[in-house]
Amino acid sequence: MEVVIVTGPAAGGSLVGEAIESFLRQRPDAVLGLATGSSPRSVYQDIVARHRAGRMSFAKARAFQLDEYVGLPADHLETYRAVIEREVTSQLDFARDAVRGPNGTSPDLPAACATYEREIAAAGGVDLQLLGIGSDGHIGFNEPVSSLASRTRLKTLTEQTRRDNARFFGDVLEAVPRHVLTQGIGTILEARHLILLAWGAGKATAVARCVEGPLTAMVPASALQLHPHATIIVDEAAAGALTLGEYYRATWEAKPDWQGL
Ligand code: GLP
Repeated sequence: MEVVIVTGPAAGGSLVGEAIESFLRQRPDAVLGLATGSSPRSVYQDIVARHRAGRMSFAKARAFQLDEYVGLPADHLETYRAVIEREVTSQLDFARDAVRGPNGTSPDLPAACATYEREIAAAGGVDLQLLGIGSDGHIGFNEPVSSLASRTRLKTLTEQTRRDNARFFGDVLEAVPRHVLTQGIGTILEARHLILLAWGAGKATAVARCVEGPLTAMVPASALQLHPHATIIVDEAAAGALTLGEYYRATWEAKPDWQGL
């Protein structure tokens, strides 16, 4: 696991944007994993700017969402499909149907989950997966005690996550769906590079438990410890509870340029 402590979301966004640009140069048909939430927003702003400047094209690339709400009408503005389209993909040049998500409106949710797993596999798996982290240590919508081997499936949100997400539903807790479909932890771990972003003191405990705590289903993000190429990008506040902060800083400063992220 590599921990990179940056000055803030803009610096983190440009670091990841640069990594995506160089990856797309080698692999124009890259498969990206897109997360919702505020944490990856600066990455999206950065890649949209690079795209507008003519430095990167997604015309041959594909993308998979991490998760989706169940029970929202298909035209609801807060489905993750709508959020990803509004904030990211509508501003890039992805081909039609190149951006996929689990179907939270399917009458047969287990079948929709199995279909989604097959779509990811048929695309050759995810090359680079962006992740945020929930205040309870969840990734995607894998709440605490999710199986570390889980695949895409139906999950029930904790009260805490529904409260955290109520801001997207006019601060009305009852408006936040109880159920979601999410890539499982086993699914996420198959992506070839994981990049988790976290900003602010509110994420400090979750980040410390993810990076330095025991591997446990109680902290789904701790499963990143099992991944051979996981990058954790945080600001000073989100790094605040880490024990080895000085080591991470020194390691980053001494990192050979050729290694990239
Ligand atoms: C939701 C999403 C997660 C995201 C988390 C944190 O629960 N399903 O993918 O990581 O929110 O959101 P934020 O980045 O806004 O803090």
